[in-house]
Amino acid sequence: MSDTPLLRADHGAVRVLTVHRPDKLNALDAATLDALDAAFAAAADDDSVRVVVLTGSGPKAFVAGADIAQMNTLTPVQGRDFSLKGQRLMRRIEKMPKPVIAMINGFALGGGLELAMACHLRIAADTAKVGQPEINLGLIPGFGGSQRLLRLAGRAAALELCLTGAPVDAARALQLRIVNRVVPAAELEAETMKLAQQLANAAPLALRGILDCIAVGGECGIEEGLEYESAQFGLMFATEDMREGTQAFLERRKPAFSGK
Ligand code: COA
Repeated sequence: MSDTPLLRADHGAVRVLTVHRPDKLNALDAATLDALDAAFAAAADDDSVRVVVLTGSGPKAFVAGADIAQMNTLTPVQGRDFSLKGQRLMRRIEKMPKPVIAMINGFALGGGLELAMACHLRIAADTAKVGQPEINLGLIPGFGGSQRLLRLAGRAAALELCLTGAPVDAARALQLRIVNRVVPAAELEAETMKLAQQLANAAPLALRGILDCIAVGGECGIEEGLEYESAQFGLMFATEDMREGTQAFLERRKPAFSGK
């Protein structure tokens, strides 16, 4: 058994969180959900962190799902509470004020795919497999999978994955728009860190504005979405980073964004 279910490492402004239960393919038990929740809350509050990368320990799995052994004995009320705990975590990640990248290094099944879908961007190794296999357990997705897969990949893909429970490989996941990019497994870490670093160098308040606009726009009508975008756009003119970014362009130099 691992001592701690979550590892944390900072690489400059990029915080890497690694679900660390390799002997259980990083399955999410209640303690791991709690550790993730606390870690994301801390990363949100820490100004030195500009980007979060989330991955799983070992070469085999990102996260192979909610912990089946723990779920096996739950009562209906405990089952609902477990679902609510998972959903709260996913919502926290989705609403993070800084970009979160899922680095999918292997199986992302059930709660693992739900976790990856709550992140803002997903990069998968070509060896990864993703799916919602809860049906094989007499269950349904409980950490938001039915809702996020529907929004991300559409009704046909959501129904196919949830009803059959069959995982799809990384190439198909890309085709279904479940992941943003697929890279050779050997290059996964380097490619993910390259993207994370690029985002870490960008203007944090503008990144936050984009995250907010796209989150709000995904859930409202076009008129409200456009109005929200204009308000956020106007807000950018209150930032030092906007002055720096436009000035740097005019002076033909690289901008240095401070997050103010
Ligand atoms: N919950 C709890 N334990 C899990 C787990 C999960 N979701 N997924 C894997 N594990 C455990 C296994 O029980 C096993 O533990 P053990 O060695 O103590 O018996 C260990 O992780 C290794 O898994 P194993 O099944 O032996 O690996 P495999 O390579 O044969 O198969 C998978 C890999 C991913 C195909 C298989 O583990 C699996 O189907 N996992 C469950 C996926 C799932 O249904 N997720 C949704 C849950 S809601």
